Amino acid sequence: MVCLSSISLSGSFHPEVFLQPSGLESESDSAGLVEETTSKKIKMPGSVLITGASTGIGRALAFEFSRRGFALGLCARRLELLEELEEELSGENQVAVAHLDVAELESVPEVLNKLADELGGVSIIIANAGIGGRSYPGEGTFHQDRKIIEINVLGAMATIDAGADILKKQGGGQIVGISSIAGFRGLSATPAYSASKAALSTYMEGIRNHLLQHKIAVTVINPGFIDTPINTHRKSRPFLISAEKGAQLMADLIEKQVLSSTVPVWPWAVISRIMYLIPERLWCRINV
Ligand SMILES: NC(=O)c1ccc[n+]([C@@H]2O[C@H](COP(=O)([O-])OP(=O)(O)OC[C@H]3O[C@@H](n4cnc5c(N)ncnc54)[C@H](OP(=O)(O)O)[C@@H]3O)[C@@H](O)[C@H]2O)c1
Repeated sequence: MVCLSSISLSGSFHPEVFLQPSGLESESDSAGLVEETTSKKIKMPGSVLITGASTGIGRALAFEFSRRGFALGLCARRLELLEELEEELSGENQVAVAHLDVAELESVPEVLNKLADELGGVSIIIANAGIGGRSYPGEGTFHQDRKIIEINVLGAMATIDAGADILKKQGGGQIVGISSIAGFRGLSATPAYSASKAALSTYMEGIRNHLLQHKIAVTVINPGFIDTPINTHRKSRPFLISAEKGAQLMADLIEKQVLSSTVPVWPWAVISRIMYLIPERLWCRINV
């Protein structure tokens, strides 16, 4: 067990850090559905940095973490929306905003470092920015698939890379990726989006071992349908919940430092397990 206390970070806060990298334990609800969590949490007060904070889940997470007393570093492409959000949030907690297009990969470290410096350090970095889209091979829409991969995969990986560098220098923290239930199987309605989320989840699972050695917890959030602009065009949005409710559930899971979880847990954890059990020859006949 590694146990560090009062690690001095390069910022204005001095968190207590308790970590047991080798000891992952299961934190299950009564149905055994919530995924594993690090057995001792890496305790960090303080500040959260969110990409894609101008609308939807990112915006709702900003309100939720502000309500919980966190300082906020918020970025997205639409700076005007972030500035409005900054005004709405203005209260006790510090808020810093910045323009960031995560597809401009070289600009990601600069912007995240600037926000972290403004906040005097950061404890949680949430790679949330993402786009949806429906396109199929051979239809002349490859540019859409490319955009989805550039933003949802490369943009998220660039965020995680820069975030890990910041947190390593500080002595620890937490990286969160907003993936999706769409990553559990190849969805025929949105194959590129589905592939992008599978890639993000698999990447995050792969980096966990390395980052735990640097006292950085890795959390993968797999939302079901959350009521945001990304899916308002869809005819069917089963088990839809509001962005506010989704953000509240996500913040609880993030603060618990779960390794991964669907949001909400019920019914998506059960549905995801059923999805895995459907044989490929049947799966390819289902239009989802
Ligand atoms: N809503 C759901 O049901 C659901 C379910 C599963 C997973 N998710 C995931 O949740 C995340 C947030 O989506 P949402 O539902 O909140 O949709 P949303 O309301 O459309 O929000 C997407 C956010 O990502 C930002 N963004 C998009 N492209 C970007 C880029 N190149 N650089 C920086 N920021 C960018 C957008 O801001 P700008 O346009 O201002 O840049 C916006 O703030 C996404 O990763 C999505 O895949 C959502």
